[in-house]
Amino acid sequence: MQRILITSAIPYINGIKHLGNLVGSQLPADLYARYMRARGHEVMFICGTDEHGTPAELAAAAAGIPVAQYCADMWAKQKRLSDRFQLSFDKFGRSSSPQNHRLTQYFAERLAENGLIEEVVESQLYSKADGRFLPDRYVEGTCPDCGYDRARGDQCENCTRQLDPTDLIEPRSAISGSTDLEIRETRHLYLRQSALRERLEEWIASKDDWPILTTSIARKWLHDGDGLRDRGITRDLEWGVPVRRGERPWPGMEGKVFYVWFDAPIEYIAATKEWADGEGLEDAAWRSWWRTDEGASDVRYVQFMGKDNVPFHTLSFPATIIGSGEPWKLVDYIKSFNYLNYDGGQFSTSLGRGIFMDQALDILPADYWRWWLLSHAPENSDSEFTWENFQVSVNKDLADILGNFVSRVTKFCRSKFGEAVPGGGEPEDRERALIAELETRVAAYQRHLEAIEIRKAANELRAIWAGGNEYLQDAAPWSVFRERPERAAAIIRFSLNLIRLYAVLSAPFIPDTATKMMKAMRAEDGLWPKDIAAALASLPPGRSFTVPDNLFSKISDAERESWQKRFAGGRE
Ligand code: MF3
Ligand code: ZN
Repeated sequence: MQRILITSAIPYINGIKHLGNLVGSQLPADLYARYMRARGHEVMFICGTDEHGTPAELAAAAAGIPVAQYCADMWAKQKRLSDRFQLSFDKFGRSSSPQNHRLTQYFAERLAENGLIEEVVESQLYSKADGRFLPDRYVEGTCPDCGYDRARGDQCENCTRQLDPTDLIEPRSAISGSTDLEIRETRHLYLRQSALRERLEEWIASKDDWPILTTSIARKWLHDGDGLRDRGITRDLEWGVPVRRGERPWPGMEGKVFYVWFDAPIEYIAATKEWADGEGLEDAAWRSWWRTDEGASDVRYVQFMGKDNVPFHTLSFPATIIGSGEPWKLVDYIKSFNYLNYDGGQFSTSLGRGIFMDQALDILPADYWRWWLLSHAPENSDSEFTWENFQVSVNKDLADILGNFVSRVTKFCRSKFGEAVPGGGEPEDRERALIAELETRVAAYQRHLEAIEIRKAANELRAIWAGGNEYLQDAAPWSVFRERPERAAAIIRFSLNLIRLYAVLSAPFIPDTATKMMKAMRAEDGLWPKDIAAALASLPPGRSFTVPDNLFSKISDAERESWQKRFAGGRE
């Protein structure tokens, strides 16, 4: 048994997330967490909301409510949706929690003690029209690197480069659109990332098993980009973690807050404390996940995120951890994702383009989406959602292959033998052949899940389902029933056991359906199969079952067309 710490990038608080956000971190992280738990490992799975900085302030202003209220409401909405998508977080925290405030101030103090914080008089864009400084996303303009004309003051979404507002070409205010900007001086704390270059380079070089997408972005910004230049970690904003040196005030920094990208990753740690506090546990309970001197040296820490988040998790956050000089846990493996596009363009929160988590659940249950998104995860390149493709996947994989198998087997059994596992007959060559095939396939499935190769795992699972259909077609219990009822009983007993096995294997992908299948089979344990032959003999003759309601409905052409239209206009 291993201890596995899993974090998903914490989504910005500014609104309900779209399916591109979901498949870019939280959903694959959930698949991995569920699989690892099923294999008997001890898992701590952490997510939460990223509540500070300009995204929150801008969204609250647009909604016309105070930012604290906005964040509380939106956290509740996001939490409810993640529950409905069956995201099995041990804690869905909030970066605005008191725990995160204290921990962020604590890290800043450690960094300062280690000589890694410097006070810098900075030139910041000031907007006369808005009467304020314009940090980060308060300013937009053209990326100096790739020419993308909607780059934001903190990062270019197009090429992932981290930016300062003054880097932008033709900057404009995101509040008023004003281009009447001037540069004014203001005092800020800088993290001397450049002093940590060697240690970061060495650490990244040691990660030879990371996915190419992760290491290529990390190396790009480490070597060619100036990813490690010293960076401001404070801002002239109201909403955020007040700049303090641990418990004490920080002279000269009154009225300022830490930069959102400084406090957000620290929330991974703070949320684990929120979990422990919520459960009434001692500090040792969360520290054993995060402090290598207090039990975390045997923890494997895996992070999930979209590609735009990679520089912050391979450079900035590790700089905080390493710079603290304390034995906090560094990430062991980073799984990152490309983007999911929507019907020929990008998903976009600001334009309301695509399908959002609440809308998705208004039309179909979570498992339909989970299956499509995971089996099309943008791992090696960007991928695209189209309604046609979604319809084909649902109708073929879920309805024709899995759903149909369950329905044929249970209905045939009910009509010929009644609603209990029939006795009689023995496994023959056909059964032995399927067991042998499943041994190979399940081993491959496990290997892919362990390697977090999500599409490969989905393909293997689909093949495992399809194997059952082919077996049933070949064994044809309906034709042997008249002559050899015992043989038909053996086939059906084997097939009912396949339903249980499929439930166990499919649960990480489609947990609600798996639960329905387990309940219908009155299966007592959902233990991961060690031995396929034994697993396929686990429902004994005489065990009663129920015929489940149709597991999946097919998507008709009319439905597909109507949804396509409904979602074409953007979010109301
Ligand atoms: N809020 C960021 C986003 O949605 C992710 C933050 S991840 C963390 O892109 F490291 F900061 F926590
Ligand atoms: Zn760019």
